[in-house]
Amino acid sequence: MSLRLGDKAPNFTAQTTAGEIDFYEYLGDSWGVLFSHPADYTPVCTTELGRTALLKEEFAKRNVKVLAVSVDPLEKHEGWVNDINETQACTVDFPLIADENRKVAELYDMIHPNASATATVRSLFVIGPDKTVKLMITYPASTGRNFYEVMRVIDSLQLTAQHSVATPANWQDGEDVIVVPSVSTIDAEKKFPKGLRIVKPYLRYTPQPNK
Ligand code: BEZ
Repeated sequence: MSLRLGDKAPNFTAQTTAGEIDFYEYLGDSWGVLFSHPADYTPVCTTELGRTALLKEEFAKRNVKVLAVSVDPLEKHEGWVNDINETQACTVDFPLIADENRKVAELYDMIHPNASATATVRSLFVIGPDKTVKLMITYPASTGRNFYEVMRVIDSLQLTAQHSVATPANWQDGEDVIVVPSVSTIDAEKKFPKGLRIVKPYLRYTPQPNK
């Protein structure tokens, strides 16, 4: 069954390049990014995992743990990680799941048979500290993901979990945000002492509250 936003992220145990992992234990109280790629030793995947490794500090700053998955075996992952490190000038030190029996792929509906009968597509899930699914994105094999966009959405998710705001189109961390419609303007004036810019009664901006 496919997952939807707000669903509990299924737990699993899996063999990974960092040993056997229980997903929930691995995440602890952190946020998580679980992402699949079609296959090892493929060019786009090589750049994606390299880019993720290079963003290690950005993920750490946001308290996010990363976990990659494909249906390739562990030995193949281990050899490929050396190539990624060499070609992308990085150190991949997040675990790669060897999902040979497709347990994780099936739990997270990562195989889309009309795209490929055997390989996982580029699925990416952001899991909150409450273990619920906060974001799902799915890209085809031919298109590498934008990990700056992933980071941007995590910033929005973390901000909007703490404050009664939403983030507008193309929002970047530090820019003005939108007061959610459920907050009256009278209450918004108290909640957001940095001020309100009211464009329409339903379109009210305020400076980002956590900056
Ligand atoms: C790649 O990662 O380069 C790739 C994988 C599967 C199909 C096409 C490209």
